[in-house]
Amino acid sequence: MKNISVIGVGYVGLVTAAAFSDLGNRVVALDINEEKIRNLESGIMPIYEPGLAEMVARNVRAGRLSFTTDYAVAAKDAEFVFICVGTPEGVDGEADLQYVRMAAESLARVMEHPLIVINKSTVPVGTGDWVAEIIRSTQPKPIEFAVVSCPEFLREGSALSDFMAPDRTVLGSENQSAADAVAQLHLPLRAPIVVTDLRTAEMIKYASNAFLATKISFINEIANICESLGADVEEVARGMGFDKRIGRSFLSAGVGYGGSCFPKDVKALKHMATLRGKHPQLLQAVIEINDFQRSIPVRKLQEMLGGNLNGKVIGLLGLAFKPGTDDMREAPALSIAEMLRAQGAIVRGYDPVSMSNVARTHPWIDLRQDAYDLVAGCDAVIVVTEWNEFKQLDKERVRDLMARPILIDGRNIYDPAYMRSIGFEYRAIGRGYNGEGTRNGN
Ligand code: UGA
Repeated sequence: MKNISVIGVGYVGLVTAAAFSDLGNRVVALDINEEKIRNLESGIMPIYEPGLAEMVARNVRAGRLSFTTDYAVAAKDAEFVFICVGTPEGVDGEADLQYVRMAAESLARVMEHPLIVINKSTVPVGTGDWVAEIIRSTQPKPIEFAVVSCPEFLREGSALSDFMAPDRTVLGSENQSAADAVAQLHLPLRAPIVVTDLRTAEMIKYASNAFLATKISFINEIANICESLGADVEEVARGMGFDKRIGRSFLSAGVGYGGSCFPKDVKALKHMATLRGKHPQLLQAVIEINDFQRSIPVRKLQEMLGGNLNGKVIGLLGLAFKPGTDDMREAPALSIAEMLRAQGAIVRGYDPVSMSNVARTHPWIDLRQDAYDLVAGCDAVIVVTEWNEFKQLDKERVRDLMARPILIDGRNIYDPAYMRSIGFEYRAIGRGYNGEGTRNGN
């Protein structure tokens, strides 16, 4: 059992705290937001993540997990302190490090014994050295510490299982014994451990996210080419995916990637490169393709509705940036809703878990109780998020409820032939449309 503190109870922090306490360690999780901490103490989670509330409750009950807003409490017995604060997008795509700075300074002020500071937040290459410098210059008296980078690779929606069964653990440090101690902490996860220097570890995180985003933009570009050539991108991805060098994952064409990571991280990497005089052309293309992809359902609708969306009622089926989360950060649904609104359409939305978040930021989206309530009277519906419950909808009922059965399947979750056979005017992404109605008839 080790004594661990976690600074920041966002996605990464809360999952890290819950998981390490579940592995038998004693964990103190800190956040400066008092309301979040009060809520957590009474079992209310700040985010929706399958299994998280149960895991937190179990470990609080067992006395292994506690919460605080006080850095002195968090630092008191800690051998390892994980920094898991947000690094939002700042000016020009540069990561905003103000929360990392605050965390490092606050910790340095109350440090009373040697400890290892582990950075889990996604931070620009070089931040580990900068954190060490902040701690050194803020400490009231010199106390030994080491900084280790341990980037997190978990996905929202499957965060706990990703944390507990990662493909690899990456550790970067200039201090070998600190890296070894952090490696020990991760041994129960039974993943290969890559130990390298600080900057390389930080870069592995950016390169991994940028590569996954590139796969998505690549398949979206292929999808658009498929439409003009009468090929089906779903089959293309399947056919490509059997090649072990390529793999099938992250080759699902759709309305583009969103979330708190890919958009921000690709821009931040581009910014780091540009600052050093490089021309990251591929990253630029990945961003442009992703922006364009969000407009595709709207373009399709314009074409089908004779170029005029004014006064048309359009339903968005799914709002979260992906299934399994209530996170609306950079969600394609919001870009699509804004585009539709700009053209005079009346925008409706339904999502199983993210609606309270949407209601706060986009009160003009007419939120509905369920999928059937959403489609009733709509001139067109766009599938934006591929929640499982949408796959099982009674399609004939949907068709009958709609004013006109136009369905844009932004995530390719339905069978085009079946949808058309029951009377939908159905369009998907990259599935054999050449603008003149070839193979798949759309
Ligand atoms: C992503 C990475 O997958 C994690 O490894 C990483 O730890 C995390 O960012 C992070 O940096 O914190 P996440 O943003 O939770 O995780 O979600 P993903 O499942 O990767 O999906 C991102 C976006 O890509 C979603 O909008 C999803 O709809 C889209 N996507 C994904 C596609 O459009 N097509 C695909 O084939 C896969």
